[in-house]
Parts: sequence; structure tokens; C-alpha cells
Amino acid sequence: MKENTYSPGLEGVIAAETKISFLDTEQEEIVIRGYNLLELIRKASFADVVGLLLDEKLPDAARKAELEKAMVSSPVPSAVYEILQKLPASMHAMDRLRTAVSALAAFDPEANSVDPNSEHVRAPRIIGQVSQIVANLTHIAQGRKPEDFSPKYSYAENFLRVIVRRDVLPAEVRAFEQSLIAYSEHELPNSTFAARVVASTLADAYGALTSAVASLKGPLHGGANEAVMYMLLEAKDVPGLEKLMRDKLAKKERIMGFGHRVYMRRMDPRAALLKEVLHELIRARSKGQIYADMCQKGEDIMRTEKGLYPNLDYYAAPVYYLLDIPIELYTPIFFAARSSGLMAHIIEQHRENRLYRPRVLYRGHRGLRL
Ligand code: CMC
Repeated sequence: MKENTYSPGLEGVIAAETKISFLDTEQEEIVIRGYNLLELIRKASFADVVGLLLDEKLPDAARKAELEKAMVSSPVPSAVYEILQKLPASMHAMDRLRTAVSALAAFDPEANSVDPNSEHVRAPRIIGQVSQIVANLTHIAQGRKPEDFSPKYSYAENFLRVIVRRDVLPAEVRAFEQSLIAYSEHELPNSTFAARVVASTLADAYGALTSAVASLKGPLHGGANEAVMYMLLEAKDVPGLEKLMRDKLAKKERIMGFGHRVYMRRMDPRAALLKEVLHELIRARSKGQIYADMCQKGEDIMRTEKGLYPNLDYYAAPVYYLLDIPIELYTPIFFAARSSGLMAHIIEQHRENRLYRPRVLYRGHRGLRL
């Protein structure tokens, strides 16, 4: 038994040994299997990153083609779409996604296997199916038929095309793909921890993924990206944002898209990169400068007033808005991208498992009698 110390929110606690990723705040580097995440965002494809996460090395051309194929050519069972069609459109998109991810298990003959080799083989298919569910969530809620991904396009192009159902510019596909890589893996946030905790009971990958969707929905975690966009739209312009943010700060409310448990008083490196992506997208689409201006104003206010910096969600929101993506899909897209990192963690947990079972600092009564 180790020393009994209590850290609220498990701040600073080392809860897993991993070879997947590490937030090195001293060297200011997000390490993904030895590579710098920012370099992957700049130069790699999403399939490269999936290969790296699952295989522990960058894929060669043949493996990359195999991964792309599995991700774009594994249709979602029609029964899963039928379940989604029966859910009320008023249900939060993350709750619809959570239901669908759970239902996927019913159509995987190996669903209950916790053999890491089986999970490794099934992971690209699961990532592709989750992505197709996400791409179709809003269409189904609005009574349109779901569309499968097509082998004609890359994974990222498929994903964006099915969401927006229009021709897309190469610059749009690249911006979207860069956001997916930025979201793919990030050490041990709440959702990944949730997935590892569930996996540690030797429960299966679908159960672990379902718990991660539930965790990611929260506004303190993945739900922040949609909250940022609602805030920008409510504000309408730069003076509007300044007023809105100052009012919120005066009321001691949190501003979504700022702060991070690990980076707290520094800029999330992913946010800085997505800010560049936003500027490139504005140039490519010749519109949207207002969102860059608003975001800059918000950044300045939070730095001066609170010493807080943006996280990835802050800049992902306007990028998705300029791509014409429905706001309710921002957090589900985060999950689809993160399903790659989550599968790597579930596999790692099942390879070297020890049950998670912490203790409490008991503050309740003692000695009461009936
Ligand atoms: N707006 C205003 N004040 C803030 C914010 C914020 N966004 N974030 C932290 N603070 C303040 C907080 O009020 C507290 O102040 P005080 O000590 O005066 O009460 C102090 O900073 C410490 O806050 P904490 O909640 O104890 O710190 P934490 O490490 O638990 O916070 C966080 C991390 C992400 C929950 C928090 O920064 C937050 O609520 N941010 C807004 C939501 C958000 O953007 N989430 C996305 C996180 S990054 C991507 C992801 O993981 O999904």
C-alpha cells in the first residue's frame, strides 16, 4: 500500500504508465509515441496518426492504405441507424452518439473479447464506424437518410463531405483533418481515464468507449467547443464579445475554451496551431475574419484579466463553423477523432491490466445506531 495522499480532482496524480503520449510542459511538447503532435498536425494524415497510435510506429504505404480502407469501407449496421432514427432529435447529440456507440457492440461478433490483438484488428473499423455515425447524426435527426463513406475519398474528405453534403475545397479537407489530428490523443484527460477505468475491470472496448462519450459531453471537457461557438454567435461582434465576457467574469462565470488542468497558465500548443489553421481557412474561403478578430479579443481579455489562455476547443469552434459543420456535431467530432487514442489506451490497458480501485478520505459520520 502506497502513502495515503489526497489530491482533489486527482491533480498531479500519476494514474497510468503509458507508451502512447505525454504532455511535457517543461519542454512544451505533446509527445505522441515519440513524435511531436504539432509536427504530426502539420505534416501527417489522420491515417498516419491512427497507425502510429495503434501500431506504435508510423505506417508504411501499404499499412496506411489498409487503415484508410478499414475506416472508409466498414459501413454502420443499418440497425444502429434505425435506433438513432427512433431517438428524439431534442436529445443531445452526444447522448445520441453514446447510444449508437453502445449499440455497435451488438453487431460485432467479437464485441466481448478483451484480447488486445483482437481489439487491435478491430480498432480501425470501430474508428470508421464511429466517424460515420457522427457524420450522419444531424442528418438522421432531421429526417434525412444516412450516407456511408465512399472508397473514392480519403477518410477526412469522406467525413467532411458526409457532414456538409457539398463539394469541399482541398483547403477545407486539410483544415478538418488537422483538427482531427489535434484531437486524436492527449494523454489522460477525463474521458481517456474513464475508458481506462472501465477497461480495467476487463469490460470490453464498447463499454469503455461508451463511458468516454459520456465523459466527453461535459462542458468542462469536450462540450467546451460547442459552448465557445454559442458564445461567439451570441456576442455577434468584437464589442459584443468584450461586453459578454466582462459580464461573465464579473459574475464569476467560467469562459469556455480557456484554461486547462495541465497547461493552466500557458497556451495549449494545439490551440496555437488551430489558430493558424483558422487564419488559413479564412484566406481559403475569403470569409470569417470576424471570428478571428473576436477570438483574438477574447484571448487578450482572458490573458489580462485572469492570466488564462485558450485551449484547443477555443479555436476548433470557429474552424468548424467556417466549414459549415452543425454546432451540435463539434463535440461528437472530437470523440470520433479521439476514438483513435481511446482504442490505443484500451488496448494498452488490456495488455497490462491492473484494476483501478482507489480509496477515499472519509468525512462522514461514524457510530450512528438504528
Ligand atoms: N474561466 C474563468 N475562470 C477559470 C476558467 C475559465 N475558463 N478556468 C479556470 N478558471 C479559474 C477558476 O474559476 C478557479 O479560480 P478560483 O481559484 O479563483 O476559484 C481557477 O481558475 C482554477 O480552476 P479549477 O477549476 O480548479 O482548475 P481546473 O484545473 O480544474 O480547471 C478546466 C480546468 C478545464 C476545468 C477549467 O479551466 C475550465 O473550466 N475551463 C473552461 C472549460 C473548457 O474550456 N474546457 C476544455 C478543456 S481543454 C480540452 C478538453 O479537455 O476537452
